Amino acid sequence: MRSKGIFLLLVFSALTAYYVYSPIPDEIEERWKLMITDCFFRSLSHLADFSELLGLKDYMGVMMFITIAEGVVPVSDERVRVTEEVFDGVGVVVYEPGQQGGDGELRRAVVYLHGGGWCLGSSRMGPYDLLARQLVSELNAVVISVEYRLAPEHHFPVPFEDVYRVIKHFLQRQVLAKYSVDPGRIAVSGDSAGGNLAAAVTQQLQQDPEQQVALKAQALLYPVLQALDLNTPSYQQNQEMPILPKTLMVRFWSEYFTSDKSLFHAMMSNSHNSLESVGLLKFVNWSAFLPESFRSPYNYSAPAAESLDPSRTIAAIIDPRASPLLVPDSMLHALPKAYVLTCEYDVLRDDGLMYVTRLRRAGVDVTHEHYSTGFHGALMFTMWPTDFQIGHKMKDNYIHWLKQNL
Ligand SMILES: *[C@@H]1O[C@H](CO)[C@@H](O)[C@H](O)[C@H]1NC(C)=O
Ligand SMILES: *[C@@H]1O[C@H](CO)[C@@H](O)[C@H](O)[C@H]1NC(C)=O
Repeated sequence: MRSKGIFLLLVFSALTAYYVYSPIPDEIEERWKLMITDCFFRSLSHLADFSELLGLKDYMGVMMFITIAEGVVPVSDERVRVTEEVFDGVGVVVYEPGQQGGDGELRRAVVYLHGGGWCLGSSRMGPYDLLARQLVSELNAVVISVEYRLAPEHHFPVPFEDVYRVIKHFLQRQVLAKYSVDPGRIAVSGDSAGGNLAAAVTQQLQQDPEQQVALKAQALLYPVLQALDLNTPSYQQNQEMPILPKTLMVRFWSEYFTSDKSLFHAMMSNSHNSLESVGLLKFVNWSAFLPESFRSPYNYSAPAAESLDPSRTIAAIIDPRASPLLVPDSMLHALPKAYVLTCEYDVLRDDGLMYVTRLRRAGVDVTHEHYSTGFHGALMFTMWPTDFQIGHKMKDNYIHWLKQNL
């Protein structure tokens, strides 16, 4: 019995050492805290792989543990009134300023889309609930936090379409009037995969001839913006970075599109492009869109595009509703002003940087905040025991921008 206990202890310490000493750049603040947080994420991910291998529960099913563990029931308090509603068939949590504006004063609104790689996450998670409340209090705004359906149960375009339906519903004049929202002061915002959905719906609304109320701003927090090139300098530099290693991001992409595992392997080696991608590679050409300091010392080579068996071609890969970077400049110039947050230690850094360049060249007013010691997901790490100073700083700056620009 005793030797078994010692053996388990040894295995446990070996694993801990292995996890905890994963390389984390010295520049990152509160390194130890991040190592421990990452240790937890990695362990869960390994457990999820193991569970899928044994046929017990699929990978994302196990990873959902994080969403459930951080789950909250959003409730009203003296400052914020919370209601759960359904907008055109999709669940939303509506946060409104506590005192009903009896003076008829119109308020700003933020439609918020949570992150989690289209597969995880919920508006009913502690950090998202907290963020929504802060937006309400600090901006005197109405916040619509969207509970879109998730992959792999609901592949693309379901999550996108859910969000689009919610926005279309909300932007109707009588609905805005019901919530005392000023039609001229509405933003869409989201982090990570939520930033992807935010960018995509902003573009698609612009193309919608029926749409009368326009968005005033979009705010994208370390967004995912393209699936054609998964070997940008930031993917190369940060492939083992905490919270979102390349394998996890590629997993999210592939599960967003399909349950066929072969796409994951093709994406890992950046060999998932078909001949249909060729004409679009210019829109994600990091050699053309990244500032020099982020490009060097990497050497650009365009991802290989092969003629794939039509049964294996996944049309969604080239769909701009999944990869908003794939639209031509003519679809960018009329977009509302934008806030884009990027982090140095993030595989998605270059997605954000490329969008900043492309939007600016198209004449869009863009505020870009780059955190040179930031890591992916930091803005949601603002609650004990995983609260990081940089997360608080990001949140303050983001809310400050909305205050000034919405
Ligand atoms: C990418 O950009 C570089 C430099 O601007 C250019 O030389 C190259 O032909 C481009 N490649 C593609 C695939 O667009
Ligand atoms: C890029 O190319 C140069 C010259 O061929 C080479 O010296 C350098 O090592 C390459 N960089 C990378 C990251 O492969």
